[in-house]
Amino acid sequence: MKITEMESILCPCQQAATTSLPMIKDKLSLMKQEHVLKYYDKLSLQQMEDLLSQISSINISLVNELIDMGMANREPHPRLEPPHVIPIKDERHQEAKEKGEKALRDGKVACFVVAGGQSTRLGYNLPKGTFGVGPVTNKSLFQYHAEKIAAISRKYNTQIPWYIMVSRENNKQTRDFFQEHRFFQLQASDVIFLEQGMLPAIDFNGKLIMNSPANIAMSPNGHGGSLLCLKENGALDTLKKQGIEEIFYFQVDNALVRIADPIFIGYHQLERSQMSTKVVPKIHPDERVGVLGYINDKLGVIEYTELNDEERHAVNPDGSLKFMAGNTAIHMLNVEFINQLISNGFHLPYHAARKKIPYIDENGKMVKPQEINGIKFETFIFDALKYAGHSVVMEVDRQEEFLPLKNMSGQNSPETVRHDLIRLYNSWLKAAGGFEIGDYPVEVSPLFAADKEEFVERIAGRKIRIQHEGLYIE
Ligand code: UTP
Repeated sequence: MKITEMESILCPCQQAATTSLPMIKDKLSLMKQEHVLKYYDKLSLQQMEDLLSQISSINISLVNELIDMGMANREPHPRLEPPHVIPIKDERHQEAKEKGEKALRDGKVACFVVAGGQSTRLGYNLPKGTFGVGPVTNKSLFQYHAEKIAAISRKYNTQIPWYIMVSRENNKQTRDFFQEHRFFQLQASDVIFLEQGMLPAIDFNGKLIMNSPANIAMSPNGHGGSLLCLKENGALDTLKKQGIEEIFYFQVDNALVRIADPIFIGYHQLERSQMSTKVVPKIHPDERVGVLGYINDKLGVIEYTELNDEERHAVNPDGSLKFMAGNTAIHMLNVEFINQLISNGFHLPYHAARKKIPYIDENGKMVKPQEINGIKFETFIFDALKYAGHSVVMEVDRQEEFLPLKNMSGQNSPETVRHDLIRLYNSWLKAAGGFEIGDYPVEVSPLFAADKEEFVERIAGRKIRIQHEGLYIE
């Protein structure tokens, strides 16, 4: 079956719950998943109830489709073409900026961060947004984002609702973090948490994996779950009632995301785009990043592994890479577009990832496997691109706007994020007055300036507080 054709399956959380044991047994037998109740008789009453309710929330056709998909062979290599990209310096920037500023002033824009990921590569047990990245203050990613939203709301005298997608696993911790920090000067009512859906994992025989006698292994349904999540939690209706037309979408781990950038909003609106994307040029052909491109004539993200060697190294006549448009996962999404897209049970295609998934052995003991033993499923937001009538792809400066925190060490790690932030703020200082402090930690609060231009404009005559840990400009 083609992944992209699976469009009529309801999400697990949309299923009506039936928790009577005989009915659940029938359901499992239909699915050929009877093993799930193997330890049922040994469970406590509460565990029995939880397991039955978990099973009842699982959609049979969804599981069958996932199994088919997970077991399917790869599709043939698609035809790939690069997209049109609006360059960093484009003559329409001013026009776009004015358009975007008007949308902000008129209260037409909401922000939406996806923060439900598991941070496996970073190896961090708390929600990634709580990770401290400020080179001097050690302020968290969430605080950075909150301050950017506060600054832009103040600048355009507007109210910007901020939606935060969390998972079942990190929902409480994320809410508690915001409570503890008093929502970082934002109105609590403007910060809205939405919990994303989950998908079950299967083994290579197509069986649901149990990670305890009472629990089926499930994981968050990927950042693509965000669209469904907006709908199911009533956020789309609220946005429409508030007259909000556009959503600025970003990932929690990008320390430099320029939230609600008016130029981006403006291009998106000028071009009547339904879904727009910011891209950064790939550093070298083998950089492991997905690129925007046409896949069999439909816009999408071509994963690093989907480009063959020849395509990866292909160049334009001027020597630049043909497939250069590295995905930043920063999007503008039109509210009406999302609404239409996910009506009638539509969901984005599922992607299978082969992983090491803890399971229980014959004796009901949990095993952490050394080898890959199963398949997890996710949906990706960029798969929505192919459904957009119009799309803007806009290039931005990586050093100024894209700094993701992904890994414990090496690239995109706490160390490189800190280093690159210091380098950036130093370059702002240099642009302002020609003085540079080298490796000495410098940090600029988003409440002070959103970018170099604003920094240079505002630095004259402002208070600079030098702390022993470094220079913090707020
Ligand atoms: P990544 O794919 O980088 O995943 O997510 P991650 O969870 O941060 O890290 P790993 O892969 O486990 O190491 C990109 C963005 O999408 C969000 C993440 O929180 C991050 O902002 N995301 C991912 C979700 O909100 N939900 C998901 O199910 C997956």
